[in-house]
Amino acid sequence: MTETRRIVIAGGSGLVGSQLLRLMLDTSRSGASPTDAPEIESVTALVRRPLGISNPRLHEVIVDFADAAALRAALDEARPTDVFCCLGTTIAKAGSQAAFRAVDLDAPLALARAALEAGAEQFLAVTAVGADVKSSVFYNRVKGELEAGLHELSFPRGVKLVHPSLLLGHRAERRPAELFAMGAMRLSARLFAGPLWRYRAIKDVQVAQALLHAALREPPGDRTYEGKSLFLLAGLAS
Ligand SMILES: NC(=O)c1ccc[n+]([C@@H]2O[C@H](COP(=O)([O-])OP(=O)(O)OC[C@H]3O[C@@H](n4cnc5c(N)ncnc54)[C@H](OP(=O)(O)O)[C@@H]3O)[C@@H](O)[C@H]2O)c1
Repeated sequence: MTETRRIVIAGGSGLVGSQLLRLMLDTSRSGASPTDAPEIESVTALVRRPLGISNPRLHEVIVDFADAAALRAALDEARPTDVFCCLGTTIAKAGSQAAFRAVDLDAPLALARAALEAGAEQFLAVTAVGADVKSSVFYNRVKGELEAGLHELSFPRGVKLVHPSLLLGHRAERRPAELFAMGAMRLSARLFAGPLWRYRAIKDVQVAQALLHAALREPPGDRTYEGKSLFLLAGLAS
């Protein structure tokens, strides 16, 4: 693996993405990550509005993910080794299933295609536990379609996917169903053992750690992490 990494991240303002951005910017100068990770030379955040973060290694590019030419230009400029996708919305927020698909499927696939054309070595994305093209649940089916689309692309170091169950973190926006589920999950975490590990709630920062470890430390190849393997990757389970 190239010792110096150039990162592109989409969704850097979100729950997982902002934690990932923070970890990468904290560790990038000294390589002072939990172990001897390669140095992160630059981080380009593709955003739709400014993040309000100032860091000498952070470059912000405002893009419309539906504009393939603009996306390609941004990726060409960044010359990324690793591209992370933490994009996502909810059907309620997007307003329709079609609008949800645009954010959770079309945008990540457009990003991945532009990343491959720009020479990225690997692509990493957050999808979800239950992702399955054949699922009868719309959300899981869209996530499955995304995974299938990504696996058609031949990144030299592969596509790495993480499958969180419910994400634990602090949102400015209110999502009452998520808040209720978080409370229930916290109370019942110990029940999620064995085959039920995959449904155990996980903190936003833990998913971010897992993604960063997957990029910097895992061997090349397509891999999907969920349940215990996801917690292990984040350095949290034994
Ligand atoms: N929440 C959960 O419990 C859960 C569970 C399993 C899997 N997941 C999946 O994990 C991923 C990350 O989730 P999260 O909760 O961290 O997401 P999040 O906090 O909702 O953040 C989503 C990110 O996507 C960006 N985004 C949304 N719509 C966009 C658009 N039209 N154009 C450009 N950017 C747009 C947001 O940018 P702005 O800040 O500009 O809006 C933000 O950076 C998602 O794919 C989600 O489906 C979530």
